[in-house]
Amino acid sequence: MRIVLVGPPGAGKGTQAAYLARNLSIPHISTGDLFRANISQGTELGRKAQEYMDAGRLVPDEITIGMAKDRMLQPDASNGFLLDGFPRNVGQAQALDKILAENGIALDAVLDLEVPEEEVVKRIAGRRLCRKNGSHVFHVVYNPPADDSVCDECGGELYQRSDDTEEKVRVRLEEYHSKTEPIIDYYEQQGLVRTISALGKVAEVTKRSMDALHDKK
Ligand code: AP5
Ligand code: ZN
Repeated sequence: MRIVLVGPPGAGKGTQAAYLARNLSIPHISTGDLFRANISQGTELGRKAQEYMDAGRLVPDEITIGMAKDRMLQPDASNGFLLDGFPRNVGQAQALDKILAENGIALDAVLDLEVPEEEVVKRIAGRRLCRKNGSHVFHVVYNPPADDSVCDECGGELYQRSDDTEEKVRVRLEEYHSKTEPIIDYYEQQGLVRTISALGKVAEVTKRSMDALHDKK
């Protein structure tokens, strides 16, 4: 299956992607995680992306699209993938359509995770991430790790993202409404959108998502 996950910052895209990718045996491809890995490895791409991420703004398409394309064309993604955080504007959605067409493949669904803004702020404020694996996501209240600073899954160090401040979250939400939300209309026209409430327990949201992917009510 080839799936795109859309939703505001803190909706739970990364959290759901980890479970869905495991259930569907496809790789979880997060452009945010790819940028953070480049930044921690000190690459040229990471250096270029950092100033935009620190400001809460979208990284320019000329950097993002090539990086996402390279990852999607890796052998482990040949039978499908779950895109988390890409595409993030209509230009990226059009570029993705071109990449898919060139490779004779197509998307199966776009999962749109809906969550009220006040919940987003609570989720982001308590988020803790694993330095070793971006798919290992915790929350100090909703999904607390056994030890505040150690990942339960792999023993990696837990940290708080530098763009998870209230001020940056406001900018990220503005970017989401002005640039990312229009891709939902774009994909509606292709009949691909499945809207899911992202409220409730993580497992409930996963079940709703799996049901939507299998077209169950
Ligand atoms: P990115 O890393 O994609 O961040 P984001 O979209 O802002 O999304 P988040 O990672 O903040 O949230 P999430 O929805 O994954 O939530 P999570 O599962 O962690 O992008 C970061 C930056 O990179 C961008 O600002 C931009 O600069 C750049 N970038 C990335 N892609 C780009 C692109 N395509 N183009 C241009 N620039 C790009 O959950 C949040 C918290 O809630 C966690 O603590 C979790 O434990 C908790 N939680 C999750 N589900 C639940 C639940 N059901 N109940 C209670 N708590 C929950
Ligand atoms: Zn970990």
